[in-house]
This record gives sequence, structure tokens and C-alpha cells, in this order.
Amino acid sequence: MTRPLPRFGTLRAALRCGAIAALALLGLSALPAARATDASAAIPTDPAVIDAQVSSLLAQMTLEEKIGQLVQVSSLSNATGPIERTNLEEQVASGQCGSMLNIIGAADTRKWQEIALSHSRLKIPLLFGYDVIHGYRTIFPMNLGQAASWDIPAIEQSERIAATEASAAGIQWAFAPMVDIARDPRWGRIAEGSGEDTFLGCAIAAARVRGFQGGGLDRTDTVMACVKHFAAYGAVQAGRDYNTTDVPEITLRQVYLPPFKAAIDAGAQTVMVAFNDLNGVPCSANSFLLDQVLRREWGFKGFVVSDWKSISQLIPHTIAADGRQACLLAYNAGVDMDMEGRIYQTYLAGLIRSGKVSSAHLDRAVSAILRAKVERGLFVDPYRFSDPAREKAAMLRPSSLEAARVLAEESCVLLKNDAGALPLARTAHVALVGPLADSARDLLGSWAGQGRASDAVTLRTALTKTLGADHVAYAEGCSFKPGDRSGFDAAVAAARKSDVVVAVLGEPWYFSGEGNCRTHLDLPGEQPALLRALRATGKPVVVVLMNGRPLVLGDTLANCDALLEAWYPGTQGGPALAKLLTGAVSPSGKLPVTFPRDVGQIPIFYNHMTTGRPQPDDQPRIQYKSNYLDVPNTPQFPFGYGLSYTSFAFSNARLSSPTLPMNGALTVTATLANTGSRDGAEVAQLYIRQLWGSVTRPVRELKGFRRVMLRKGESTALSFTLRPSDLAFVHSDMTNAPEPGRFEVFLGGDSKAPKIGEFTLLPR
Ligand code: NOJ
Repeated sequence: MTRPLPRFGTLRAALRCGAIAALALLGLSALPAARATDASAAIPTDPAVIDAQVSSLLAQMTLEEKIGQLVQVSSLSNATGPIERTNLEEQVASGQCGSMLNIIGAADTRKWQEIALSHSRLKIPLLFGYDVIHGYRTIFPMNLGQAASWDIPAIEQSERIAATEASAAGIQWAFAPMVDIARDPRWGRIAEGSGEDTFLGCAIAAARVRGFQGGGLDRTDTVMACVKHFAAYGAVQAGRDYNTTDVPEITLRQVYLPPFKAAIDAGAQTVMVAFNDLNGVPCSANSFLLDQVLRREWGFKGFVVSDWKSISQLIPHTIAADGRQACLLAYNAGVDMDMEGRIYQTYLAGLIRSGKVSSAHLDRAVSAILRAKVERGLFVDPYRFSDPAREKAAMLRPSSLEAARVLAEESCVLLKNDAGALPLARTAHVALVGPLADSARDLLGSWAGQGRASDAVTLRTALTKTLGADHVAYAEGCSFKPGDRSGFDAAVAAARKSDVVVAVLGEPWYFSGEGNCRTHLDLPGEQPALLRALRATGKPVVVVLMNGRPLVLGDTLANCDALLEAWYPGTQGGPALAKLLTGAVSPSGKLPVTFPRDVGQIPIFYNHMTTGRPQPDDQPRIQYKSNYLDVPNTPQFPFGYGLSYTSFAFSNARLSSPTLPMNGALTVTATLANTGSRDGAEVAQLYIRQLWGSVTRPVRELKGFRRVMLRKGESTALSFTLRPSDLAFVHSDMTNAPEPGRFEVFLGGDSKAPKIGEFTLLPR
């Protein structure tokens, strides 16, 4: 559609009537006219009514208007990728854009919505998307840290809060949850996901969708979820972002795809493709993923958005010679919306007109996008998410900050605590040292939405408040810069005058997240030397780590008495850490990812296969077994690991039966007791191992977990149900079914939990 554009002086005057005109064109005149108040009662929820509205609109659209709905453009100022400068206003006003990303705030989303509504012929509202990854303004711990809480309701609640804030700032669609299983800590985006395990990953994926979409997409306090990155992005070779992936279909289906399915089953209606190529076909042109698996096998009815320019990247991926071919490949594979790529906008009309591609795909794609807009109530009130008063009231509510603090407490993992170095005595004089002890921005981690450093409370501030200013001597010690030892003397002097050193070390926030990968997983800069210098004072040394990935901690562990893994704990990170360090709360996090001893062990994960020549973990290296000359196979810290200030004991573990019929269920019961002297939470973890199968079976697989809070001396009964469907796995022919056979069962506080029994799954 090419219509002369009004100049922008005249544009604004015409804005107010835009939405009302849209309703008239849609034949929706019975609905209330556009207004800024909530009109949820008029928003259709009946699928038949929604479909009828979508069909009626589709029937009125020209080819160019339909293609416009498939185009998503980014604001120039908040771009999250390489961007070309174009005249955005012209594009939006002419109806050549159906969605925008990185437009933030009630005022700005209203401004752009007005531009779309006042000038485009059909006045179809824009859909505003944004990366709401671990909070919008109230920043929760980074996602890998949240996973360490194993607290599914708390994670769901964090997304409910994120949705409430984001939707009040005009955002209708979150580019989350990121559900990529990651087994390589070199990859910077491991920080954004839930770690290495598919079972835990599925539970978290579904919780995040429930949290975002709350009581329904017709509500103004929800955001539409977008599960990403489809698929196997976490398997990039050598842990280098955007790199190639080669994943056998059996592993893809067993390990990488289930969290996507879990998110879709929980109601996610949009999917973002991954940047990587998968087994030779980039995900943006991968009809196996998008057509066969997503649409045919899973019955997905929503829409698929590309990643940032990922359609045009089919050219450097070497499967498209030019933009036109890239367009054809992505469109035919089933990518519906082109994020900041301009490929559909440039080439799709020509391809359809020349009959090179079918227009049937187009109607399906446009319908799915329009359906989302109808469901979000945008045709009833296009400004319902752009309400400045609601925006002001929604941010940083005290209850949101409290939820962020509690999740931060639960996400921290105590990895070492010799001789009761922690908790600190309330009377202790503490030397608080390190580049992360007082850095508000680093607390937020990567992909921190609209989180502001000025909202975040550092450990220095919180600990000073808790212990008193005369009990905390702060010295930065060093920055992250190689060679910077300028603060060593002051840090050592502070240590000498104190009872205990708390060294807050790790990676700066920009060492993880998109495009931020590493080959060395040690503490950057002079931090190892600073730690040695502090250790040499003879004072007890507690390390608090902030980092976006598992690090190699051998030297760090050797030079400290206690180590608390804090990831990036978010806006309320300081108060959470102060409570943990002083014992007001006992650490309860458990690793959602294995910590290697050495980079050379990567990929290392708990649910690996045995090989035909397994090296027993508890024996010295045996020649001709699967091992290394220089480092044991075992990790520094296994998946599921984490200490507490109290202690727990599992007892009376039993299985309800030695056999499980194919149509039956088996119960695993046990008693969990807090046997220590403090209140605390334990994450009880149930693992199984199938001893033989038609394809090799992992040494262990997580099949259940319970996070239980117990007062000192208290105990509780645990119960897990195992059904044959829980034991299903992908076979060589890609069917997914349980196989009769013998199983071992393990129960305890980490993935090295002891065996508590065996059972046989009986044939049908
Ligand atoms: C690229 C990232 O891969 C994706 O996760 C994100 O949603 C988009 N950029 C938009 O910012």
C-alpha cells in the first residue's frame, strides 16, 4: 500500500480518532470506542468469536497490509542488536509494521500506537514486545540463579511481578521464557536459562509462562510469553555464541525440545527461533523444527518470530544467496514475523505475486498475529497498556522488592563452609573487599530490562546497615582490569584490622549474556592475587561470588574458608546477602548446573551416559578407561549440590512395590528431618537410572524434587509418585515411550544421592 504520508505536524492532530476508525473498519462498532481505561469485559475470549473477527479483518486486507503485520521493527534508541537507521515513523504510519520492540513506557508506546492508528488504512494496533528476562524494573536474580532456588512458585511469582510492571509500561509481549538447556559454561547465555537439566527446565519453563500470562491475556497486567530460542541454541559448538550446533535428533528430542513443549502446553502462543544452524539448517529456515515438530506434532497455533535479523543472516549462514532467497526459505519454513530484518517487507510481496511462494502461509501467519492482538484487547482499547498512572504505581512495589529479596536468598548456593566460617558473628568486624562488594549495576546482571543501578542495594550498604558502620571496613581491592593492584594495600590493611574478610569477587555483569562468551572460567583481572593477599593475613576469608556461569574454582576454594555462590542477585541482592551472611536466613540454593574442575572437562553434566569403558568415580585413574591423564572425571560441584547452615537427614526411604505395571504407579516415600541447630530449607531430589534400554541410558535422571522448609528438629514425610510415563525416553525411531526393565532409585540432597531401592517396570 503506498499512500502519501502526512507530514508529522498534521499527523498528531489526526491521532485521536484513529482507534475508533479502526473499530469501524473492523465491523466492531458494537464494542466501546478506544479509551485509556480497562475494557476487559468487552474483550472476546470465545475462540469462535475471535476467529470470526480475525477472518473479517483478513478479508479486508491488501497483500501489503498483510505483510506489514509480519514486520517487526526496533526503536533506534534501545536497540538490542545491530540496527540500520530508517524512517520508523513513516513505516509505522503507513501500516508497514505490525509490531515494535524496545519501545518502552506508557508515554512512548502510546505515541507509537497513535502513529499506527491515525494513518494506516485499517488502523491495526501495534504489538509491543520487549526482553523481560528476569524482571522489568524490579530485577530478580538472573535466571540461572533463580533456577538454583528450585522454588517453582517463587519463580512463577517473579514473572507475575515482571508482567505487572512491564504491562503497565505498555509492553504486551515478553521475549521470554528463554528455555535453552545449556551444558557449556563458556556460553554467555547460560546465565539466561535454567541450567543443564531438562526436567527442572520444563518445570521452570511452564512456571514462567503461567507467571507472565497470569489470569489470561485479556487482562492488562499480563504479558504474552514467547518461548525461545527454538532450538538447541544452548548447544553451540565450543560455547561460542551464534555458533553451529550439531545435535542428533534423539538428543534434540530428549534433552533440548521438552522445555519448549512444556512452555507451549502452559499456554505460550509465540516462539522465537534461534540464531544457530541445527544439523546444517539454520533455525530460521528449519522446516523440520517449525513445521514438522512445532506445528504438526505439537499442534502449535500461535506465531513464530525470527530472532534479530536472523532471516537476513541466512545469507552468511550460506544457505541463501541473497535477501530474496532468505525470504523464501524462512517463509516456507514457517517463520511468521521478521524481527528487525526488513526481508519480508522487501521481498515477500514479489515472491507471492510471482507465485514463487504460496499465499496460504501468509493468511495463517497474519491470522495468528491478529488473533494475539484481539486476545490482548487491542481492538477494544489500543491504549489499555499505556496508562501513565498505572505505570507509576506498578514499579518497585514493596511486595515486589520483598519477593525479589526472598528469591535472591533462595538462589544463593553455599559451596564451601569450613569450620563454621559462616554465618558471621553479629559482633564481627568485617573487611568487605572486592570489585563487586559495592557495585550496584553488577547486581542486576545482563538483560536487566529497565532495572536501574540506583534502585539496587549493594552488599556494602546492606551489611553496614545490619552490622553497623563501625563493623564494616570497605576496600575495593582491585577492579577487573588486568594489572590493577592499586587497592591491594588498603584491602590488606582493612583485613588485618578485622575479624573476618568477606571478598565479593566474580565477573562483571557484561561477561555473560548475549555475545559474551569466555574460554577461561577463572576470576578475571587481579582478583586471584587479591584473594591470595587476603588469605596471607591469616584472617578467615569468606568469598561471595557473583558470576553468570559456573566458574573453575579450584584456586579460589583453596584460598577461602567459605564460598557463597550469589550469581547476580538483582535489585535486592545486598539485603539478601546480608541476611545469608549473618545467618538470619540459611542458604538453601542447589546448583542447576555442574561446576567443572577444569575447562577441559566441558561439556560436563550429571546425566551423561556411561560409555563402554566407564571409569569408576571413586577409583584412581585406570588405563584404557574413559578418563583424563590430568584431571578426574568428577566435577568440582555436582548438579543439585548446595550446603546449608543446618543439616538434613533422609530416612525410612522405601518404594511402595518392587514392580511397576505399565498402567500403574509407584510411590517413593521417606522422612526428611532437619537435624541441625537452625531453621532451613532442603531440596529433596529423586533420581532414577534405567539399567538397560534399547538405547544407552544416562547414569542418572532427575524425576522429582521438593523444596521443603523445616524448623530445627522438625521432620516431614516426603512422597513422590512415579508412573511409566515419567520413565519414557526417546527411542532410535524417535518414538517416546517407557521400556520395561530394571530401575534404580536415588533420593537425597544432590545428584550424588544414595540409592534407596530398585524396581522393575513390567511389560504390558
Ligand atoms: C536477540 C536475542 O537473541 C533475543 O533473545 C532477543 O529477544 C532479541 N535479540 C530482541 O532483543
